[in-house]
Amino acid sequence: MRKISTPCTDPTPLFRHGGVLPNHRGSLLDFSASINPLGPPESVLRVLRHELSSIAHYPDTDCRKLTKRLAALHQVSPEHVVVGNGSNELIYSIARAFRPKRVAIVEPTYTEYLRASLLIGAKVDHWLPERGFRFRPFLPGAANLVWICHPNNPTGDMWASSWQLSRWVEAHPRVLFVIDEAFLSESAQRWVPRSLIPYMERRPNLIVLRSLTKSHALPGLRLGYAVASPRLAECLRSQIVPWSVNCLAQSAGLAALEDRDYARRTAQWLGESHSMFRAGLQELAPHLKPLTSRANFFLIELKTLTSDCLTARLAERGFAIRDASNFVGLDRRYVRMAVRTPADNSRLFGAIRAIVAEAAPCPAP
Ligand SMILES: Cc1ncc(COP(=O)(O)O)c(C=O)c1O
Repeated sequence: MRKISTPCTDPTPLFRHGGVLPNHRGSLLDFSASINPLGPPESVLRVLRHELSSIAHYPDTDCRKLTKRLAALHQVSPEHVVVGNGSNELIYSIARAFRPKRVAIVEPTYTEYLRASLLIGAKVDHWLPERGFRFRPFLPGAANLVWICHPNNPTGDMWASSWQLSRWVEAHPRVLFVIDEAFLSESAQRWVPRSLIPYMERRPNLIVLRSLTKSHALPGLRLGYAVASPRLAECLRSQIVPWSVNCLAQSAGLAALEDRDYARRTAQWLGESHSMFRAGLQELAPHLKPLTSRANFFLIELKTLTSDCLTARLAERGFAIRDASNFVGLDRRYVRMAVRTPADNSRLFGAIRAIVAEAAPCPAP
């Protein structure tokens, strides 16, 4: 791993993400945000319709029922759990609660860690793998907090074992490690054994973040949570804006966690579609090269065309993908694509085939 100095000190322009706005003119098939393509569970939609009138009341600011249910899911006591308005609220609350003077970010990764850290005036060390975007342990030096995205957005990389990662956390007891498992969900099952949550009780310097917005297709409703020692959880809770998790999001969370059929269908979809997506991308060689991914998206290296050109040409054909050139450590050779249903994926691959065969090809990166 090598350290690079802060390429950016202004948090303002950093908020750039995938995702198509609902009122976007013309409909784009969205491969830019990595959301469960099965859509929100029917059980959640039913609860939302039924409980619409609850918005006449303030929500439970402590999210007691949901906290209890999440604690039971992870076999910890409720003092370990903090619910937030999406895991993004928790990222900003962590920065405010612990006010690290210096942070380390393993790049390329989700840009909100950088933005949240800059907003509280922290100095930032960016750590980049030497080659291949594979995580390796490093000495955090003067950093008081390390942000790790696991699996990592946008590379899809995970540590070979959770035990190895937890040993690294254990070796630096004075550093706070935030492991963002927003893309690791019980309903996706496949990579859940690599979660750090089972180590949390023995690692007092560890906070694990989870999100329900991707796994259950609820990004517009906003729901995430943190699991940490009671001391860290209490400190984090003190920074959450009162009533930030609305009544509907709390009820939706409870319904989502009960829906075993949705979890089963999600696991089945990802099991089938992930390897098909990878195989489909490999067939687009030599133009595209996917990295190994342990998440519901792939980072793709473009060999014969640039990220902006491919993104624009796909948009003309009705597809949104994520131009990944603004991630620290990446450039115009990279795009990220979410795994959708087999039918949607085939349509995307058909469009890419047509683009690379076009008479006026995109410029090479
Ligand atoms: C790695 C990662 N963490 C956290 C989030 C925030 O998710 P949410 O606030 O919807 O839970 C995102 C959103 O894209 C993400 O990519």
